[in-house]
Amino acid sequence: MARTRLGTHIGVVVDDYKMDPAEPGFRDFVMELLLQHKVVFFKSQHFSPATFTEMVGQLGRKEVHPFRTAADVITGISPFQPYPEYPEITGIYHDEKVTGNLNSWHSDLNWREIPPFASVLRAVRIPPQGGDTVWANMAKAYDSLSDSVKSELDELRVVHDWVQIYRSAFKDNEDALRRMQEQFPAQSHPLVLTHPLTGERLLFSNKVSGVRIEGVGDEESRRILDMVHRLAWRPEFQCRFQWDEGDVAIWDNLATQHYAVSDYWPHVRKMERITLEGMPIK
Ligand SMILES: [Fe+2]
Repeated sequence: MARTRLGTHIGVVVDDYKMDPAEPGFRDFVMELLLQHKVVFFKSQHFSPATFTEMVGQLGRKEVHPFRTAADVITGISPFQPYPEYPEITGIYHDEKVTGNLNSWHSDLNWREIPPFASVLRAVRIPPQGGDTVWANMAKAYDSLSDSVKSELDELRVVHDWVQIYRSAFKDNEDALRRMQEQFPAQSHPLVLTHPLTGERLLFSNKVSGVRIEGVGDEESRRILDMVHRLAWRPEFQCRFQWDEGDVAIWDNLATQHYAVSDYWPHVRKMERITLEGMPIK
């Protein structure tokens, strides 16, 4: 087995290792790498949907995307659910007709009451060139701030809402949109989290779901969120991974943000993701 750091502050690539969920210590091995490096890449795994689901199940409790139940209205994300028999797998498929749309800095499902702790992504089909993913270490981003800015941010809370992500999928179906909003209302999370497993302080808001700071005016809210969200753009906090088919990435979804580079149209890119249930955050 070979381990190679991908960035100075984030990311490690593991080569010559076959992920085997039955191996004693498998979960501990993965978790240690994950907490230390925040995103871990396992080369050449070539899971089937069944073995992928089984492997992820060894790492924690698998989630089903909450909008799976609203498949009839999520027409813009296709095919969101590739395998009826594996409801935990979310298909992230792009081709000539469905262009890449994940090229915004975000973490996954922050708008849930308990956001997922980790995401696991496998590369099923990779374009001949392009389609990399970039991750940013948001604990490092917090560390980079001065003490006075840290204390300004420390007690703030951010409202996270899925509507700006999925609004277009509902087209004119306002009733369906309202029903989903009742079922999944916007959530308030601390802007600065203490990571439940590492104890690190980190910035927990992103451009896609973090819509406003509670208790301050619109302008001030915009100023703070823009400043925080832009920190993810800084290359010093990032790593960039070039996928091969069969590769698996696991990232700490609380401590990182990611950006899927959409530079491969009209080629096909097929990824499959399972998220792992998180823990209450504060
Ligand atoms: Fe994502």
